[in-house]
Amino acid sequence: MSEEVRGIVLAAGKGERMKSCWPKLSHPLCGRPIICYPIEILKKAGIKKIIVVVGYKKELLFPYLKGTQIVVQKKLSGTGDALLAVEPSLPNFRGTLLVVSGDVPLIREETLRKLLKEHRRTNAFATILVTVMENPSGYGRIFRSEDKQVIKICEETDLKEGEKIREVNSGIYCFQSPLVFGYLKKIKLNPHKKEYYLTDVIALGAERGERISTFFADSQEVLGINTREDLSRAEKIMRMRIMNEIMGKGVTIVDPENTYIEEGVKIGQDTIIFPFTIIEREVSIGKNCRIGPFCRIREKTVIADNVELGNFVELVRSKVGEFSKAKHLTYLGDTSVGREVNIGAGTVVANFDGKKKHKTVIAEKAFIGTGTILIAPVKVGREAITGAGAVVTKNSDVPPGKTVVGVPARILNKIGS
Ligand code: UD1
Ligand code: CA
Repeated sequence: MSEEVRGIVLAAGKGERMKSCWPKLSHPLCGRPIICYPIEILKKAGIKKIIVVVGYKKELLFPYLKGTQIVVQKKLSGTGDALLAVEPSLPNFRGTLLVVSGDVPLIREETLRKLLKEHRRTNAFATILVTVMENPSGYGRIFRSEDKQVIKICEETDLKEGEKIREVNSGIYCFQSPLVFGYLKKIKLNPHKKEYYLTDVIALGAERGERISTFFADSQEVLGINTREDLSRAEKIMRMRIMNEIMGKGVTIVDPENTYIEEGVKIGQDTIIFPFTIIEREVSIGKNCRIGPFCRIREKTVIADNVELGNFVELVRSKVGEFSKAKHLTYLGDTSVGREVNIGAGTVVANFDGKKKHKTVIAEKAFIGTGTILIAPVKVGREAITGAGAVVTKNSDVPPGKTVVGVPARILNKIGS
């Protein structure tokens, strides 16, 4: 994509309708703050220079804005004012502004590319990404003249009685810069909401004979998140997308409706994920594994091939080697498990001493008996065994090949030795 495009993400709003103390775009969607999605999609669509307009509790969004230019909207007086705030950052810039509302995270890269293409093809002042909705409530409506030309966008609160239009504004547009800034300076405060509406530049432009184009998107893709209900709807759609992609690579997900897999998870071929399993970000699972039901795999966990993790097994920041098994009621935190290890039901790693987290190592072919507690930091050697109910205290490493039993665990010597 050529250099004369700038991506702009409008992300300054508070998100009143979320009824939250936190900025709307900091809320997680499939494990990542909403703000991450529009930025990533712009990047994927080939846009190298991205400006993010922030305002309300902006510090909370900063960690997710790496590689973008940040512009602060001082007073939150509407989407028109938000876009105008980027003008000083674009001196002498002539080209296209691809403006994306931060709260439309399901948009696809392909759609943005097509929107840009249409904008260029028609050489328009503005190209609006639109869609047709069964229930358009909450969205700005697209008004067209008899010859189908767009004449204005009207927000729901400004509709007159009897005006029923199902074509809506997605909140994503291309504008010609610097032309759009001239119009932004002319828009008037909306009398109902006391805000400057970006959408008003459409009527201003149309009145002066500027060309306004539209491009139609799938309505699901342009779902805007305004309320918690919208957020849960978006979560479900995104979740299904993630799982469809994973299934497309040869993984069985027995019941996607009841499986929760976050963005960025990697799963190998022929692994089977049983229902009620939660797999969080940054997790990688190998081939031919059996995971679940009721398994929770948390961040920074790496599972090798041919591993079995069963019901009520939780792992976090851990590694599990090939052919190892933890089939029931187990917690492994900050633990490195070698290959061919068997972890008995009820095994718990005590990785947190109240102040710090410590590591546990379980070497290959070890056998951890039912109900073992391993108090970290601790190591269980190769082919070592812990008896049922053993409590292995911290730094009391179990030597390779030895068996420990009891509370606290002690080495079981052969009779007579
Ligand atoms: C907006 C559009 C509407 C469209 C809908 C699509 C306007 C006036 N209306 O309505 O036509 O159908 O999106 O989802 O633009 N923001 C700022 N600064 C502000 C206010 C908002 O940066 O002062 C940001 C918000 O953080 C948000 C985006 O702009 O990411 C859209 O704002 P929002 O208030 O959600 O607009 P809608 O009412 O949904
Ligand atoms: Ca919105």
